[in-house]
Amino acid sequence: MEMIKRPRRLRGGETIRRMVRETRVDKASLMYPVFVKEGSNIIEEIPSMPGQYRYSIDRLCRKLDTLSDAGVSSVMLFGIPDHKDEVGSGAYASDGIVQRALREAKKEFPDMYYVTDVCMCEYTSHGHCGVLCGHDVDNDKTLKLLADTALSHVEAGADMVAPSDMMDGRIAAIRTRLDGAGFTNIPVMSYAVKYASAFYGPFRDAAGSAPSFGDRKTYQMDFHNSREGIKEALLDVEEGADIIMVKPAMSYLDMVAKVKEAVNVPVASYSVSGEYAMVKAAAKMDWVDEERIMCEMAASAYRAGSDIYITYFAEELAKCMDEGR
Ligand code: PBG
Ligand code: ZN
Repeated sequence: MEMIKRPRRLRGGETIRRMVRETRVDKASLMYPVFVKEGSNIIEEIPSMPGQYRYSIDRLCRKLDTLSDAGVSSVMLFGIPDHKDEVGSGAYASDGIVQRALREAKKEFPDMYYVTDVCMCEYTSHGHCGVLCGHDVDNDKTLKLLADTALSHVEAGADMVAPSDMMDGRIAAIRTRLDGAGFTNIPVMSYAVKYASAFYGPFRDAAGSAPSFGDRKTYQMDFHNSREGIKEALLDVEEGADIIMVKPAMSYLDMVAKVKEAVNVPVASYSVSGEYAMVKAAAKMDWVDEERIMCEMAASAYRAGSDIYITYFAEELAKCMDEGR
């Protein structure tokens, strides 16, 4: 039988495979999420996220050193405060944990690019992402506090803010507040397409931010929905978002591809704590090859259209990218 077309011709060896590779990745697109807490000389491993730690500010600085050596040029900071209250005042305190970490870290590592997660769930006594009215989060009252939080991060040195709360209108509220204070050039990366997901479980253990009652389904998206995600993305771009994020990544790559088509701004995807934990757990059992799974998950996120990939594997991935894997 005569066969003209043989796809296998382009798979014959490593050289030709790499020559025709469609997705090429760059360490410059990696962002590493990191937890910072009060105290000094603290480095605590997070039980459900082996290899990930909560750092006190001094220890965080050492970690930043390792990261920049590996070629990871940006971090996303999450704060774990000592004190929580009804209105999450630690989130927007000028001497809050993230604000102090930023001031210290910027001094020691001015070349690192600092992104901050803007939300209230780590700071509220009830664990919801805003202030309550009865048993639900009050959208419009929360907007002011989110804008306060974003501004306090930027005043402390944040290079970019990333609101993850999913309140309506928060991008406009934050943009207006930053502009009013003269920070017109600080980009906002919106967690625009953020689903109410069981994949955040380990993060909530890590940050102690699980809601004390109910769930986040009145603000985070229903995972059965796709067009709603496009609506969220378009709204946020209109409100001034500079980058749109899809979260989680792995089970939501359809949304990465669709959002990439729908908007003309860079698209980020966040491979969340549960994705990391599943790989770590299965690898520990020797059921999967951790490194290969990690590279495959990353490549699929980029293939779907991610311009930025936020992952707890950033440091290890940077090494794999150097080696062209
Ligand atoms: C805060 C926030 C969460 C994550 C990022 N920002 C938790 C949540 O929304 O419950 C999850 C990150 C992860 O699971 O790695 N709102
Ligand atoms: Zn939150």
